[in-house]
Amino acid sequence: MTELVLSLPDPAANADLGARLARLLKAGDAVLLEGGLGAGKTTLARGAIEALTGIADAPSPTYTLVQHYETQEGLVLLHADLYRLEDPEELDELGIDEALDHGAALIEWPDRMGGWRPADRLDITLEDTVAGGRTARLKAHGSWETRLGGLAD
Ligand SMILES: Nc1ncnc2c1ncn2[C@@H]1O[C@H](COP(=O)(O)OP(=O)(O)O)[C@@H](O)[C@H]1O
Ligand SMILES: [Mg+2]
Repeated sequence: MTELVLSLPDPAANADLGARLARLLKAGDAVLLEGGLGAGKTTLARGAIEALTGIADAPSPTYTLVQHYETQEGLVLLHADLYRLEDPEELDELGIDEALDHGAALIEWPDRMGGWRPADRLDITLEDTVAGGRTARLKAHGSWETRLGGLAD
């Protein structure tokens, strides 16, 4: 399966998708979270972080750009919000490549990375619905193609 469209009627549904996604994450996974300001990217990431670390209401990396976590199983989890990244040259300092050597990365505003797209990745695009909820469009690449089905309702 390469594509999946899910309905997320409220914030709790984003968090639940994040929690289900968390169970599939392994070292080397990049999850690119796309969608405009307020689309629900951080809400989804928080759901994944809480499921893996027990930390509720993880801070949004709006200004720090990245937050690192480590799960009880020893998986490094990086949460990035690159909205304020000014120059892709700064990316080296954020340690995203290193994080992917040992863990997984959830990345908001991946377009700020100047076309960086790992072959093994899951793209999630969040859009507003007229009813006030969100739609998530998931697109699997590489090894995600065999795992995407695990996120179906
Ligand atoms: N599925 C949803 N339906 C309705 N509101 C949502 C949904 N997901 C998130 N929200 C709300 O949208 C707002 C912005 O969410 P946030 O995750 O911070 O967006 P982003 O990180 O994309 O800017 C928050 O108030 C959040 O509770
Ligand atoms: Mg955000």
